[in-house]
Amino acid sequence: MNMKKLIVANLKMNLTLEEANDYLDIIKKNIIDQLEIIICPSFPFLPLFKNKDYKLGAQNCYYLDKGSYTGEVSPLQLKTIGVSYIIVGHSERRIYFKENNELINDKLKAILKHNIKPILCIGETMEERLLHKTFIVLKKQLNEALKDIESDMLTDIVIAYEPVWAIGSGKTPTSQEIAEVINYIKDLIKKEYKIDNIIVLYGGSVNLKNIKAITNIADGVLIGSASIDADNFINMINKII
Ligand code: PGA
Repeated sequence: MNMKKLIVANLKMNLTLEEANDYLDIIKKNIIDQLEIIICPSFPFLPLFKNKDYKLGAQNCYYLDKGSYTGEVSPLQLKTIGVSYIIVGHSERRIYFKENNELINDKLKAILKHNIKPILCIGETMEERLLHKTFIVLKKQLNEALKDIESDMLTDIVIAYEPVWAIGSGKTPTSQEIAEVINYIKDLIKKEYKIDNIIVLYGGSVNLKNIKAITNIADGVLIGSASIDADNFINMINKII
């Protein structure tokens, strides 16, 4: 299967309005159509970032369509402003906002209901890796997050393998370790959910130096810190085209 590599920029809680405008000026001059680029700014900047040359992604959402849930944003609302992807289950949400697999499962169902593609993040801690529990942890995260989701809906899910210890740390697994995990995830999804073309990204300290090697193994990458500087993000993209 020869598909475009998926490159996701997760800008997290960064950029002021002025910085977001500067970021966009650089991005718009450097659009690359050989790749599927998804930019995920903070909620207030989503409409500003809307552009036909790349896809718009949100970093989170709630699982209900509307109601008295102060501070939350629904997939239905995100759909109406042109969001095509939503990141779910990022380890920062699991750790700082206590999200569990049950909530992540509810969010996935809600996102899929609105024909938005979820980017489901899974990954082990360093302690779990050292105890050789990586595959057990990933299987549990996947099985609980995907519980009771119809097979034909599952094809819309993108999975991001993001070892918790690699996020923002400057450390990454070896190419062989990334390949092992990606193969494990693909095999599991094929065996248990009968889907043989699931997209699996890698995320965690992807940078200018390692992006080429990682995109040779994974279907794409989820980039945090290194995507916050627009020039650096463009340079990274140029490494893989
Ligand atoms: P990082 O973040 O690239 O800064 O490690 C990746 C992520 O959180 O998805």
